[in-house]
Amino acid sequence: MDEKLKQVEQKLTEYGQEQLLNEYNRITDEKQKQDFLDSLLTIDYNQVNKLYEKSKEKPIVQKNKIEPIEYVDKARLSKEKYEELSKLGTQKIKDGKLAVVTMAGGQGTRLGHKGPKGTFDLGLDSHKSIFEILTDTLKEARSNYNVDIPWYIMTSDENDEETQKFFEKNNYFGYPKKCVTFFKQGKLPMVSLEGKILIDENHKIKEASDGHGGIFHSMYKEGIVYDMKARGIEWVFIGGVDNVLVKPVDPILIGLAIKQKAVAAGKSLVKANAHEKVGVFCRKNGKPSVIEYTEISNEMAEEKDELGNLKYGESHILCNLFSMKAIDKISQITLPYHIACKKAKYIDENGKLICTDVPNAYKFEAFLFDAFESLDNLSVLRVKREEEFAPVKNASGDDSPETARKLYINYHKSHK
Ligand code: UD1
Repeated sequence: MDEKLKQVEQKLTEYGQEQLLNEYNRITDEKQKQDFLDSLLTIDYNQVNKLYEKSKEKPIVQKNKIEPIEYVDKARLSKEKYEELSKLGTQKIKDGKLAVVTMAGGQGTRLGHKGPKGTFDLGLDSHKSIFEILTDTLKEARSNYNVDIPWYIMTSDENDEETQKFFEKNNYFGYPKKCVTFFKQGKLPMVSLEGKILIDENHKIKEASDGHGGIFHSMYKEGIVYDMKARGIEWVFIGGVDNVLVKPVDPILIGLAIKQKAVAAGKSLVKANAHEKVGVFCRKNGKPSVIEYTEISNEMAEEKDELGNLKYGESHILCNLFSMKAIDKISQITLPYHIACKKAKYIDENGKLICTDVPNAYKFEAFLFDAFESLDNLSVLRVKREEEFAPVKNASGDDSPETARKLYINYHKSHK
């Protein structure tokens, strides 16, 4: 028998994933058969099985180890303090020490937009896409600080080509092409509710993005960290693609991290209500951390402090700043994976295509902000919602194009 096939059979038997051989047996083309075997050899079955086992455990947030985190309110800084921080940060920006990373690897399923989320037309009179709105922030920084800030865009296998084509077609919205670099995030196999690795409609292993927590490894693997270091970058702002009021070039955030001798910083804002769908900053066992909205208990979400404010009310808005030192450190560690149950189309053991309306498969994702726990300190800068947070997440209702558009228009009216 073919040596490779034997090796694969052994592996699959060892890890209880023999069902994958059914697909192999159905393939008639010899080249496709070999490609499929090769793909089976690249999977870390031990990791996948362990992740699946974890799906059975309920996430427990150890309440007694969680405390609120200290923050600095940007609106309450004295004039002197503001100027001091601004000077520190401005110098770094002018010296070309800042890079910006936009995480645009997500699928944007909730928005229902076909195509990368950044290509979505926000519905302004100008018909600017989200990517163009983000480019505006860098163009503005260019005219304010006379520097071209390197911009790295994280895509995924699913949307990389379309994203790059969109930038090409739009001539990079007038930003220098040499300053924009794309890189792809990592992937992991999806498994059935019984822990079996699935086959997708194209008869390949069904894989999904491994979450934005994989960014640190991807940045190393794809040569991004090397490129940043070669350019002399010291600070890297990492943000999501979906906030049309994001301020990636913020001297106060950089200044605060420098002043507080922190290796990273994050922006927060006051949580709108106990159940707003945002993570919250906190301290976990003394270390900076974020509890995600999907994992916080009702009790903790609703807990108030002595002034009647939410005890865990410092929302995380995915606007974070990392020093190169922090990036080096984080890339050495493995972040935990969170499990999400999703609807997945797949080919079953008998070769039949399964489509469903109910979640039927597990996806494993690492979260970037879990990296905070490996850092000694993190500066938290509270900013104003109406100035810095207009997310486009859902097709309608809260955090929709309609709400984001309003916030965007109001902000730009008052900041002309
Ligand atoms: C996210 C944060 C949440 C925060 C909120 C603020 C996570 C897990 N949670 O929630 O703490 O309060 O934003 O708006 O991020 N992305 C990738 N690759 C992936 C997954 C996501 O690039 O594999 C990008 C998306 O394109 C998007 C961003 O990360 O730009 C946020 O992802 P999403 O899954 O939409 O997170 P939220 O649930 O909105």
